[in-house]
Amino acid sequence: MTGPEKAQALRDRKGGARIAALTAYDYPTARLLDESGVDLLLVGDSLGMVVLGFPDTTHVTLDHMLHHVAAVARAEPTAITVGDLPIDTYPDAETALANARRLVAAGAEAVKLEGGVRQAEKVRAIVESGIPVCGHLGMLPQRVLEEGGYHKKGRTPEQVEALHEGAEALIDAGVFAIVLESVVPDTAAELTRSLAVPTIGIGCGETTCDGEVAVVTDLVGSYPWFVPPFARPETDVAGSIRDAAATYVRRIRT
Ligand code: KIV
Repeated sequence: MTGPEKAQALRDRKGGARIAALTAYDYPTARLLDESGVDLLLVGDSLGMVVLGFPDTTHVTLDHMLHHVAAVARAEPTAITVGDLPIDTYPDAETALANARRLVAAGAEAVKLEGGVRQAEKVRAIVESGIPVCGHLGMLPQRVLEEGGYHKKGRTPEQVEALHEGAEALIDAGVFAIVLESVVPDTAAELTRSLAVPTIGIGCGETTCDGEVAVVTDLVGSYPWFVPPFARPETDVAGSIRDAAATYVRRIRT
């Protein structure tokens, strides 16, 4: 299937089987996740924190993303590969389209960008060029410095209204799905009920959206220095690596 066909297939899952999405940043992880049947692999700019050691995603550049999108794409996933447009790479429609094309040339089958109404014309330009776009609303990590931290969204009537307006603008511009991040559960459920495209939640409560996305290091426990409160690790890769390395050190020294 082509990227646009995969995006349409996910778009058509609205109201059907829930979407299971995970981040991936490298070839072996992408292969393993794809073999496990994940629907969507997001080369997220969370890369900056959980792989590159930056304090937040505002340090991620397009070159970082191109390098990691290419690694994930070499796994030739069945799942759709979505690449994040990092901060400052979509200031206007023309630049957004040029940078989306670079992500696609590196192997992405769709792109994701953060924000609602003010991104709609950029989304439209990318979609009209044939590149599927996933929206991202709620808590927007690229604005963490402006907002002074990571705050839950969708608490006040004004925030709920802004989320609805943003989502409708993105849908009108052609997104195939919208990631909702850290939106309070009632608001996430209400958005999910009213929007025509699938919502993919993270930190919104586990059953409020049409699917879930998790940062892979939260799922496998390989980044133990910061674990968000909503993470549900299924294994302890950090513990296994420490044990294996300590066993190795003992074996070599004795
Ligand atoms: O960068 C990322 O991993 C993301 C997810 C948190 C949705 O955008």
